[in-house]
Amino acid sequence: MKRITNDIYHIGVNDRKIDLFESQYPVPNGMAYNSYLINDGKIAVFDTVEAHFTDEWFENIKEVIGDKAPDYLIIQHMEPDHSANIMNFAKKYPTAELVGNAKTFKFMEQFFGDSLTERQVIVKEGDTLSLGRHELKFVMAPMVHWPEVMVTYDSLDRVLFSADAFGKFGASDIDEEWLDEARRYYIGIVGKYGMQVQALLRKAGALEIEKICSLHGPVLESGLEEVINKYNIWSSYGVEKNGVVLCYTSIYGHTQDAVMKLKDKLVSSGVDVKVYDLARDWKSSAVADAFSYGKVVLATTTYNNEIFPPMREFLSELKERGFQNRTVGIIENGSWAPQAAKIIKAELEGCKNITFCENTVTLKSALNDESAQQLEKLAEELK
Ligand code: FEO
Repeated sequence: MKRITNDIYHIGVNDRKIDLFESQYPVPNGMAYNSYLINDGKIAVFDTVEAHFTDEWFENIKEVIGDKAPDYLIIQHMEPDHSANIMNFAKKYPTAELVGNAKTFKFMEQFFGDSLTERQVIVKEGDTLSLGRHELKFVMAPMVHWPEVMVTYDSLDRVLFSADAFGKFGASDIDEEWLDEARRYYIGIVGKYGMQVQALLRKAGALEIEKICSLHGPVLESGLEEVINKYNIWSSYGVEKNGVVLCYTSIYGHTQDAVMKLKDKLVSSGVDVKVYDLARDWKSSAVADAFSYGKVVLATTTYNNEIFPPMREFLSELKERGFQNRTVGIIENGSWAPQAAKIIKAELEGCKNITFCENTVTLKSALNDESAQQLEKLAEELK
């Protein structure tokens, strides 16, 4: 439990045992499931926590309000990392009302078989709820990250309770910069919904915000302008970093050799370069950087007259998140019938504003004089 303002408390928990968030994102620094409490004339709790932390969460509530009962549970998001304890809360505090929008309660019924109709307070865009000194205003944020998501603004303390938005991977009490793990979290989990995030940013722009209380990661209270600026770049699919990200697969090391030579050429010219082996490195970091850097090189082998599986999977991850506005270079390898460049171009055909480099590098097994020259030209094009 941690006090954030005079009346607002962090009552969330940290999961230090989890290996993969959403069963797919590595989280070596754990994961925070945040929950907040406003202790005013009326007591409001914002969201529950993941299923394994019921007792700890109730202890946190008790630490703030003793044997009093909350008046409201504000349900901003129904994904189970935040909603798992709704029924436990409702049973423990039978007089508390549940605040959500129409979609919230539809999902509640789907998850729990009961939406506790008689205890619902249904809100819509712009509705307010007074707790005494604090007046809460509800702002709908559909698809950031599910359709029922809403955020809440407390005008007294100028706090935005932002649901998943502005969250990050990692426990809330570790000493770690927000940016890299917030980017990996955002691009991985919410990246597809840039348009909806832009809509939320426009609404947030009309509010005076001093603190952001996300459902993941730390409470944000300094550098908010930069945090919002990053969200603006990511959600508009803009270029955050000038430089090149090299994403490759290599079976026996020859494609990797070409990638590393390209890296050396670019680095020696002062270009910011990141390299990912798609078969071994975190895919979520490679995806995040492909949406962060302005130029992406895809290097892979032809395999079963297709492309090597981790590259195919990587392209799917890019496409499903709306990959766009990038310069793309290609290095292909194929000992008898190289196809990878053709397949990659076809895969990215539906992506908006993709400019392919004029120079494609074609390896037939390994670099030779001809492909080394192609590599030189591609490096020149990428500088
Ligand atoms: Fe943290 Fe979309 O749940």
